[in-house]
Order: sequence, then C-alpha cells, then structure tokens
Amino acid sequence: MENKFLVGASTAAHQVEGNNVHSDFWVMENLKHSDFKEPSGMAVDHYNRYEEDIRLLAAVGCNAYRFSIEWARIEPQEGVFRKKEIQHYRDVLRCCYDHGITPVVTLHHFSSPAWLISKGGWGKNYVVDAFARYAAKVTEELGDLMPYVCTINEANMGYQINAVAKAVMKANQRKEGSIQVGQNTGINLKSILLGMFEKGKAFGCSPLGVNVFLNPRSFDKEKIVMEAHRAAKAAIQGVNPNIRVGLTLSLYDYQIVPGGEEAAAKLWHEDFGFYLPYIQDDDFLGVQNYSRKIVDANGAREPAEDAPLTQMGYEDYPAGIGHVLQRVAQEFKGDLIVTENGIGTADDGRRCEFIREAFAGVMAAKEAGVPVKGYLHWSLLDNFEWQAGYAKTFGLIAVDRATQTRYPKESLAVLGSLNK
Ligand code: BGC
Repeated sequence: MENKFLVGASTAAHQVEGNNVHSDFWVMENLKHSDFKEPSGMAVDHYNRYEEDIRLLAAVGCNAYRFSIEWARIEPQEGVFRKKEIQHYRDVLRCCYDHGITPVVTLHHFSSPAWLISKGGWGKNYVVDAFARYAAKVTEELGDLMPYVCTINEANMGYQINAVAKAVMKANQRKEGSIQVGQNTGINLKSILLGMFEKGKAFGCSPLGVNVFLNPRSFDKEKIVMEAHRAAKAAIQGVNPNIRVGLTLSLYDYQIVPGGEEAAAKLWHEDFGFYLPYIQDDDFLGVQNYSRKIVDANGAREPAEDAPLTQMGYEDYPAGIGHVLQRVAQEFKGDLIVTENGIGTADDGRRCEFIREAFAGVMAAKEAGVPVKGYLHWSLLDNFEWQAGYAKTFGLIAVDRATQTRYPKESLAVLGSLNK
C-alpha cells in the first residue's frame, strides 16, 4: 500500500474537528477583541464524523488522507497525556486502513496547547523539548500505524507573515491576498491593540510575549522552530526508525521577469534556502503551493488587473505546484509529497479544472524525474480558514454546519479518478 503513488486530501485538526478547547486558538478566537472573524466552535464535527469523511474519500478511489493530531488534546496540561484522546487517534488511523487509505500524520498544524504559549510558545527554546516529548509519546502509542509523519506544517509561515507585516508597516495597508493563510484584514488598530492586551492576560504573559505559531517571526526565531523539528524527528525515529519523517513548507511559484533575478533569489532563500540545511536529511519534504508571484526588480508584483483571483485574493494558478516541485528538486534530494494544494472558490466546476491542471503539472514533474510520491489536495472538507472563518471554501465536500450533513462535490470524484 505504501509504495503506491498517494492520491488523496488533507485536513488539519483545529480546522475540522471542533471544540479544541485546550488550544491557543480557542483562547484567541473567544476574546472580546478577537482578530478572528468568528470562532471555530464545533467546526465540521470531524472529531465525531471522521468515519463518514474517510469513507467518502475512499469511495471515490482515493488512497491517502493527511490529517493532524492535536497536541492540545493529547497533552491538555503540561505532562498530562490523555489516554482517551490517544485512543481516538488510534481509531482514526485504524479507520484509514479499514478503508484502504494510507495515513499521513501531521503533529503540529498551527495550533498549540494554551499552556505552551504561557511558557513562551514558539519564541522560546522551551518548545524544543516539549515538542519532542509530545512527538515521542505519540510515536510510542501510535507509531505502528504511522508510515509518514510531518512534524510541523508550514514551518516557514512565521517568516512569511513577518515579511508581509513589514511591507504593511511601510505602505500602511494590509490587503487580502497578501498572505497565503486566512487572515482577517479588516481589523482596526484599536481592536488589534486591545486584543493584544487581552491575549497577554489570557495566556498570563506580557502582551508582546504571546508567541503563537502564526506570529510574525525573524530567522532567529525560525531557528527554534527548526530545532523543534529536528528534536521531534530524532525522538520519533528513536522510538520507531521505520517511520518516514519530514516537515512541510509553504512555497510560491516565483516567476522572474528580466531584472527580477536578485529579488526572486532572495524570496526563494526566505521561503526555502534558509530551511534547507535543517531538512536535507529528512525522509521527505511536504510541498505546499497555492499560487504564483511574478517578481521584478522591486520584488513580487500584485497580480495583473485581469488575473483570475481565488476567494483568498491571490491568483488562481494551478500550474504553480508542478513548477515548485521542479524547483525544489534542484536542491532537495529526498522524496517530495504534495501535502497541500488547492483553491478557495464557490465554483466547484473551477475546482475540478484546477485539480486536473495541477495534477497534470505534478505528473509532468514526475516524468521529468522529480521524486514526487503523492498529491494530497487541500481540503477534504469546507472548514475553518483561521482568522478568515468559514466563508472561504476549499473543500471537496460541502458541509451544512447547522446539521453537519456532508455533500460531496464533483471535485471529490475528479480527485478520486486520478488514482489509477
Ligand atoms: C494551511 C492550511 C490553510 C490553507 C489554505 C495552508 O497555509 O496549511 O491550514 O487552510 O493553507 O489557506
């Protein structure tokens, strides 16, 4: 099963499970001056309905499912590991195998236990040992069912957010589409400041000391993230050396127009080159791409006036993933897995075309010799797009959140048909 090309979909615990009450995001979403458009609440109740969701994925012919284990559920208080939650994820993993699905597990997908933030979060070295301890525990308990583990999702997102934050300060504007992951761009300065104080109080630290994973981060702090990755990888493989371990990166397809060579090289270093020394011995790299950016001497341009945009405000550009795979393979020599690629749109017909075009690019890269081992589309379900809430629809399955009824879209069948 594991040697087959993986075709399937991805989710993240906090975005789909619901009631992630011990997490930092839960705290932030429920503040009076929250920067979230709405709280995650019940999400799409995947915690209780995972069997139905995995069954729907398998029914169209897919053979892989990437999901995340929620650290805040497994270890809601520091050092207290909950058997019931470990058993829950054992059930999810078993359910995958029962349906002929290879699981790809992520240990950290943006959300962290609230207690970690009180200890300094992703801004202090403390996280390195704490994350490794959690990774070891999960592997001891579930390692027999986990062929692939992504330690950290989009390890480079803190720096990407930092770059946008800097540009915003300069231009005094914050636009939708300027950052890949869902952000609430409509929030005013007064609310941001009040929210900061509320966060400090809620986590019991100074307002400037709240280091959640999606904070802007400098390269100094990114080193902590990479040390956490390496410590977790060693912990996992210390328990079970057969598990293939990597992390995932958010990577743009930078397209250079004459004069943009230097700026593009700098952007690629910031997204990829900086991280390469820490990951080059990993068993695989999870590649995540959502769009392209055209780079001239002044840096990345805004999309052209007539460019088609996604719901997120960035360009709809399915060819990006194939290009990024080819670019990454010039420097990273291990296996690649597309761990995310998708489109926020209300038009499922467009999603069907996007999937076909993106997959054709992945196959072209494979035929050109790139060791790509799978394509996991984002996302299995319409879900909680972080600060942007539920209005952005990336799903292959729609969900009526009042009844939690699932409505598979045509795009799900299109994805399944690619597994030949
Ligand atoms: C993240 C997902 C997110 C998706 C769409 C990625 O950056 O890993 O959690 O929902 O992009 O914005």
